[in-house]
Amino acid sequence: MLPATGSGPARLVVLVSGSGTNLQALLDACADPAYGAQVVAVGADRDGIEGLARAERLAIPTFVREVSSFETREGWDRAVRDIVMRFDPDLVVLAGFMKLVGDDFLDEFAGRVVNTHPALLPSFPGMHGPADALAHGVKVTGATLFLVDAGVDTGPIVAQTAVPVEPGDTVESLHERIKVAERAMLVDAVGRMARDGFTVEDRKVRFGR
Ligand code: GRF
Repeated sequence: MLPATGSGPARLVVLVSGSGTNLQALLDACADPAYGAQVVAVGADRDGIEGLARAERLAIPTFVREVSSFETREGWDRAVRDIVMRFDPDLVVLAGFMKLVGDDFLDEFAGRVVNTHPALLPSFPGMHGPADALAHGVKVTGATLFLVDAGVDTGPIVAQTAVPVEPGDTVESLHERIKVAERAMLVDAVGRMARDGFTVEDRKVRFGR
């Protein structure tokens, strides 16, 4: 359980697929030693994205494992597992990583993989959280940080933040408003996990030991 038994900041490996603004929020937080965590590597399922560039600018190691480079999805999953293992993470953060990790990955990192989702789970899981919330006509949506299990956005909830839906919102304007709150939630919750540790009992995640 976090923090690691050794001293020093918790080691984060962050996986991204896109612009990486959630990653950037973590990188900014980690610049303060009091935050209690450091990003030791950033990985992606595609090359040429701003998320990777954000890490490269700070000389943080990066890696890319594209699904199309592997004969099977299981092979890709094992390859991601193997490269992440090399960085010996205390916590793996999926921050806008648009792939489902598989059994081999989860067997290795069980209980220490978190994912951030742009909706208030269990409402609107899947790839289109903001669009689905808008289409449903909800007045409040938000973001959820959860521990990844074998389901799609089904794991124990670590933190949530609520965001109003405004009249005239588009998917883009709503998602941008969610992301502002999502970044703050992610930084706060990951920091608490890193500094204080956490427990999970009957799906209830609590900070501290
Ligand atoms: C976030 O809203 C994340 O929850 C969703 O995609 C967005 C990624 O944004 N899956 P960024 O790449 O961190 O800017």
